[in-house]
Amino acid sequence: MQSFEKLRAALLCASLAAFTAGAAAAPGDPPAGAPAAQKKEEADAGAAPDESGKKKRPERDANTCLTCHRTLTDKKLRVVAEEYEHSVHRDERIGCVACHKGNPVDPTVQAHDKTAGFVVRPTHQQISAICGGCHEDPTFVRRFNARLAVDQRKLYDLSRHGKIAGAGDENSPTCTNCHGSHAILPVDSPNALVNRRQVKDLCAKCHADKEYMKPYGLPSTQTEKWDKSVHGKAFADGHDKAPTCTGCHSPHAGTLPGTATVAALCDRCHQDERDLFLKSPHSRAFRRLGLADCVPCHGDHDVARSSWLAGMTPDSACSKCHSKDEKPRKVAEEVATILRGVEAEENSVSIDVAEARKAGLLVPDASYALDRLRTARVRLFATVHTLDVRQLTEDANQAKSVAAEAREVLTRARRDRQLERRGYFAAIGVASLLFLLLVLKSVQLARRRRRSEP
Ligand code: HEC
Ligand code: HEC
Ligand code: HEC
Ligand code: HEC
Ligand code: HEC
Ligand code: HEC
Ligand code: HEC
Ligand code: HEC
Ligand code: HEC
Repeated sequence: MQSFEKLRAALLCASLAAFTAGAAAAPGDPPAGAPAAQKKEEADAGAAPDESGKKKRPERDANTCLTCHRTLTDKKLRVVAEEYEHSVHRDERIGCVACHKGNPVDPTVQAHDKTAGFVVRPTHQQISAICGGCHEDPTFVRRFNARLAVDQRKLYDLSRHGKIAGAGDENSPTCTNCHGSHAILPVDSPNALVNRRQVKDLCAKCHADKEYMKPYGLPSTQTEKWDKSVHGKAFADGHDKAPTCTGCHSPHAGTLPGTATVAALCDRCHQDERDLFLKSPHSRAFRRLGLADCVPCHGDHDVARSSWLAGMTPDSACSKCHSKDEKPRKVAEEVATILRGVEAEENSVSIDVAEARKAGLLVPDASYALDRLRTARVRLFATVHTLDVRQLTEDANQAKSVAAEAREVLTRARRDRQLERRGYFAAIGVASLLFLLLVLKSVQLARRRRRSEP
């Protein structure tokens, strides 16, 4: 109990000093030195209560801000308190004063104590220091959540978002633009703005707005493109590994993935392609030219399912760089022929299998061969990254022999079915003949009986 009073007193002192210092410097200046001072005091005062605090929690620290605001009739003033009580910060050790300062033991409106540094609205520029004041401090954060990272502010300050917000651009997001102020929820809560399922809408609020992005000369097409990409579609289908915006951009680093990081980024989910790519002549050449490993061929937000990237057609990837190079042109055409050949085999076998099924043929062996053909095709589409034509030809020949196997199974099944049918028709023929004879016989008998009647 006593040590908690000490902690709070320390916090108050530090914030008071910090905010009066901030106010003295110039209105709107970030509270210079505030987080550092606050952090140090906290760490000093905070080390002790940890162990005892866990078991014997004090009664709720006085937070007259909350108790009064909860009862106010003005909705705007009440809602913040209600939101706060459901937020991740609702713990009594994180009070309203963490952000607003003031005097949280005064039960009257005097609690809005300017001499205690009370602020109605922390400025855009101040916010990262306020949030960081706690979130950078492992000793403090770990008391609540041992696994929570403490690097957000450092990464943010280095990011493009952080740099221009720090320089006074209020259109660039700070912590509260992305997390909210009073209703901050844990990242994995489905209602959190930053939850994986929602974060695209958050980024799109600014990045899909053409007017908003105009002054920065950035395109506003990322969301639109991503929606149509193989990743966006997989995400919409509920694939839990498909990358949304934060699958490729760290939300706090928020910088453009550079040459080196893009590779590492696709690599997280497409290890095989990357390993094979490293064996290709492009690996060194791209690095030398400062090109990202995968992006020149696949794009970034608009990555598509297999899309004839190989070859020398006008919209192939190879033709973008090699329209005049003798050897690469030849390789591109060879590779395209190999890939298309196997893809055509797969399509035709899969149509044959489907037709056989529709006709009621049982062909488990052919279905199995089709599965193996698919696997071989996928492997081929990975091997393509080596640009090793010999290896590709070998893989393709293997795929083709699987296709041949499938066809053979189907042909056999059809032949068996035909034989079966012939037998069936023969049997029907015999049966009909017998029936006819029977009818004739009975007609004959009937006639005889009629004739013999008197
Ligand atoms: C006795 C009730 C009461 C207490 C205690 C109280 N407030 Fe208020 N607060 C009000 C009322 C009423 C208003 C609106 C009128 C005004 O600004 O004085 C208000 C206004 C505010 C505003 C400004 C809202 C705006 O849009 O102008 C902030 C921010 C605020 N309070 C935060 C706090 C904090 C932080 C504390 C604790 C340190 C606190 N309040 C303690 C009643 C209270
Ligand atoms: C994590 C920081 C943080 C905490 C904690 C916090 N606030 Fe705020 N508060 C803000 C910021 C930032 C704003 C500025 C407006 C905004 O972004 O919503 C604000 C705005 C307000 C306003 C003005 C709302 C408006 O719409 O004009 C009130 C009232 C308020 N806070 C009261 C409180 C009370 C009461 C508590 C404690 C229950 C509290 N705040 C806790 C950061 C915080
Ligand atoms: C551009 C939006 C954005 C900004 C600005 C931002 N965050 Fe985040 N933050 C996110 C997203 C998105 C996540 C979820 C990350 C994930 O999915 O793993 C997150 C996660 C977090 C987490 C949970 C732990 C973690 O690192 O994943 C904390 C704590 C956090 N942010 C604090 C902050 C603080 C403090 C600031 C300001 C210095 C800040 N954030 C600025 C978007 C943002
Ligand atoms: C007084 C210290 C303090 C301040 C100031 C503070 N936080 Fe926190 N925050 C915490 C603590 C402690 C936790 C962990 C709570 C828990 O898990 O019980 C937390 C949790 C979070 C989480 C949830 C992380 C997760 O996914 O579990 C987010 C997001 C977050 N804070 C963002 C912010 C933002 C944004 C600000 C500034 C507007 C801020 N915090 C200001 C102490 C603080
Ligand atoms: C409040 C508006 C806003 C939100 C929300 C926002 N951004 Fe930004 N973003 C900007 C602005 C403004 C820039 C600055 C453009 C510049 O000057 O390069 C920017 C720049 C970027 C850049 C380019 C960085 C560079 O190095 O050029 C990336 C990448 C980015 N944002 C990703 C994201 C992601 C991912 C999210 C969602 C987690 C997000 N942003 C949320 C406004 C926003
Ligand atoms: C598959 C990975 C990936 C995903 C998912 C992704 N990005 Fe990107 N993003 C990139 C790469 C790579 C770049 C760098 C562009 C380049 O070098 O060609 C980039 C660049 C950007 C830029 C800088 C401007 C530009 O277009 O070059 C912004 C802004 C951006 N992304 C926002 C977003 C948003 C918003 C989302 C979510 C809708 C998103 N990104 C999803 C990989 C991705
Ligand atoms: C967070 C994981 C993740 C990241 C990061 C990622 N991807 Fe993907 N990628 C996927 C998933 C999941 C699929 C969909 C697989 C499916 O539907 O079968 C996919 C599909 C693809 C496909 C189509 C595959 C096919 O079978 O048709 C290509 C090409 C691709 N990604 C390239 C990239 C590139 C290039 C990058 C980096 C800019 C990247 N991916 C980053 C997870 C990721
Ligand atoms: C030189 C161009 C090129 C580069 C660079 C490249 N790829 Fe590919 N990638 C292809 C071609 C060609 C295919 C075969 C399918 C097609 O034509 O679309 C392919 C196929 C793929 C597929 C499977 C698509 C499918 O339909 O099965 C994935 C996944 C993939 N690449 C990921 C990557 C990753 C990750 C990187 C970076 C390490 C990368 N690629 C670099 C040209 C390239
Ligand atoms: C972004 C541009 C770019 C794209 C796209 C690209 N390449 Fe290349 N390629 C290069 C560069 C640069 C080199 C290295 C040239 C050198 O070392 O002189 C190279 C080298 C090669 C080589 C080795 C040439 C030699 O002399 O040994 C082959 C083969 C090749 N590329 C084939 C392809 C094929 C096939 C595609 C399409 C799937 C493709 N490239 C797509 C830029 C590209």
